[in-house]
Amino acid sequence: MEFYEVLNTRRSIRAYKPDPVPEESLQRIAEAVRAAPTACNRQSYKLLLIRDAEKRADVCKAYSGAFLAQAPVIAVMLCSESGAWRRLEGNSATEIDATIAMEHLILAAAAEGLGACWVCAFSRPKLDDLLGIQSPYTSFAISPLGFAAAAPGPFSRKKLSELVEIVG
Ligand SMILES: Cc1cc2nc3c(=O)[nH]c(=O)nc-3n(C[C@H](O)[C@H](O)[C@H](O)COP(=O)(O)O)c2cc1C
Repeated sequence: MEFYEVLNTRRSIRAYKPDPVPEESLQRIAEAVRAAPTACNRQSYKLLLIRDAEKRADVCKAYSGAFLAQAPVIAVMLCSESGAWRRLEGNSATEIDATIAMEHLILAAAAEGLGACWVCAFSRPKLDDLLGIQSPYTSFAISPLGFAAAAPGPFSRKKLSELVEIVG
């Protein structure tokens, strides 16, 4: 799929078919994540692509959205405060690193014809505990991955002029 078509057609998918994600698609998505830029190239994130049914059921215990359990793969993005470059004010850039890596995953999934959805409204301590995530990593974001079972509603955004100002 052409790059701008990916950007303009990608939507958050909240209904999934049980069909498996093709191995080649999963590999290309993983490589797309690896290509993500990170501050000082520290690559402070780690991605889990979970196919195992028991582990997926564990992830679902940390999030209330029922659609997550429908997906044949669940991506869990981890970040590491200590593994990342620090901004001049001292804050770790790990959430920026992990956000960019996660968005590469979301866009690559769309390019593969797969559905995905950013999920952050889950309990991070609960998920870390359920998956046995060890320091320095902590969970940061989740996405289901799979073929969409329903098309989302219409796209809605603020007006371009409210979001983007071309200065000069
Ligand atoms: C940082 C972030 C966190 C989000 N967390 C959730 C979530 O926990 N559950 C959910 O259903 N959608 C979540 N979303 C998806 C947004 O609701 C969605 O991207 C937005 O409504 C725009 O819709 P679209 O992605 O279909 O264009 C999240 C999106 C982002 C970027």
